[in-house]
Amino acid sequence: MVSKQIQDMEVETLASACLFLIVVTLLWLSATTKPFSTTSTAIFPKVYPIIGSAFSVAANDHRRNQWLSNILQNSPTATFVLHRPFGTRQIFTANPANVQHILKTHFHIYYKGPTLNSTVGDFLGNGIFNADGDKWKFQRQHSSHEFNTRSLRKFVETVVDDELSNRLIPILSHASKTQTTFHDFQDILQRFTFDNICRIAFGYDPEYLIPSLPETEFVKAFNDGTEICSWRLNAAVPLFWKIKKLLNIGSEKRLRVAISQVRDLATKIIREKKQELKEKNTLESVDLLSRFLSTSLSDEALVSDIIVSFILAGRDTTSAALTWFFWLLSKHPHVEKEVLKEIDEKSETSASAYDEVKNMVYTHAALCESMRLYPPVPAGRKEASNDDVLPDGTFVKKGTGVVFHTYTMGRSEKIWGPDWAEFRPERWLNRVQEDDKWKFKGVDPFTYPVFLAGPRVCLGKEMAFLQMKTMVAGIMRQFKVVPVVANGAEPEYTSALTSLVKGGLHVRIEARSVTKTHY
Ligand code: HEM
Ligand SMILES: *[C@@H]1O[C@H](CO)[C@@H](O)[C@H](O)[C@H]1NC(C)=O
Repeated sequence: MVSKQIQDMEVETLASACLFLIVVTLLWLSATTKPFSTTSTAIFPKVYPIIGSAFSVAANDHRRNQWLSNILQNSPTATFVLHRPFGTRQIFTANPANVQHILKTHFHIYYKGPTLNSTVGDFLGNGIFNADGDKWKFQRQHSSHEFNTRSLRKFVETVVDDELSNRLIPILSHASKTQTTFHDFQDILQRFTFDNICRIAFGYDPEYLIPSLPETEFVKAFNDGTEICSWRLNAAVPLFWKIKKLLNIGSEKRLRVAISQVRDLATKIIREKKQELKEKNTLESVDLLSRFLSTSLSDEALVSDIIVSFILAGRDTTSAALTWFFWLLSKHPHVEKEVLKEIDEKSETSASAYDEVKNMVYTHAALCESMRLYPPVPAGRKEASNDDVLPDGTFVKKGTGVVFHTYTMGRSEKIWGPDWAEFRPERWLNRVQEDDKWKFKGVDPFTYPVFLAGPRVCLGKEMAFLQMKTMVAGIMRQFKVVPVVANGAEPEYTSALTSLVKGGLHVRIEARSVTKTHY
């Protein structure tokens, strides 16, 4: 045991020395050569031989989205080419015409591709998120049943409602009575969405949102996996993590452990489900997992990949969106008032919980507006499978990575007008004159690709809105969520795969003085 540790340490020291040598060489090379580009201003990153703009990428790692946004806003067609190490290029765009081209009209050219898979494939395997071609089609077709109206209604009326009434509300109630604060409200929301996605997708209840707020190994492993994959994706010099992986050290060693823990649980869920299906002989629970297991698919590894992709899709996105939403509401009392008004109105006039949230137009707009400023998925990545030219004239060489930057698009003056920085749900609404009611006014998905667009548009979009509105109504009807932050302090938008609030959100829960509650 001890000698194994010493051995590990030696390997690690050796590897660190190698990395150090590489860095020094690169530094020396770039210090002795002049940058290529002549247009290098403070905004556009300098380009050096061999390492490209790796220095700028590394220097802006902590504010990657803001940095990219600044560059894109200052590019004539909202498109620019980032020079990566060893002559690789990556195209970034915030131009709606390009986005439409990539996601829809030239969908056949832009696929997830081998570069993405070499980065996240270890963790996601062949799951829907990084699958292409027939593997993607198969998963898309079979999962889409889970998202029809009947399933969605059932989802809201059983799973979400149960998690809300029997888990979340009692916990918030207790906090408001004892005046304890939540160090991290985002964590509470993630527990909620984690239970939810596991129950709907696999018919498995992990009981993660319970008063003791347990730490579970699986969730820790899952967090490690997504975090380390984000690092890989954003790495200034990808060669570094590849070396670390080869030597199985540091974060790469942690990733390997995390992956095997996540796989173990996924396999356990699958075996239990198989047993259950065998015993029952009928398919009474129509969760996604049962569906896949009852197809001709017997490949346990693939089913386990599917599980991982769905947890990733369903957990962090909605919880990140809601955390930012509650933060914004706390700063915009008039929006909060309007949302509360709608909650009261709808709970009086609706026949069921499903109808109630289905018709919450103002809240829907407020959520869209919140995700415009803080998109849960800040960027989308594709790879060109052939040479191509984007509508704005940018040439795309086969194999080039193309990233559309949703975060920048949500903050573009050209798209949203001079008041783009304001949180104003009304921009998504029309007042209908006759009955003084709000009517939702959509925006085309290429201008607002928060859920993507085209054939690979988010499958869970409607489910996510129903879930978020049910949670918002359930929470706000009884409680006020008050962030506990220093005056003027802003939560930080992270640059990970999903943009959660960095470090979470510290809040106090106050019981609302009695409104017309229906609980
Ligand atoms: C606010 C919440 C959500 C947002 C903003 C969101 C956004 C997105 C985005 C941007 C993608 C494309 C990712 C990519 O290919 O690069 C995506 C795909 C997907 N989402 Fe969502 N999502 C949300 C919630 C959900 C939920 C609750 C589910 C339910 C399980 C879900 C299921 C999926 C699936 C299965 C895909 C892959 C679709 C495909 O590649 O064909 N999403 N989502
Ligand atoms: C993606 O990567 C994983 C793990 O490295 C591998 O199992 C899978 O076959 C790859 N998929 C494709 C399409 O290359």
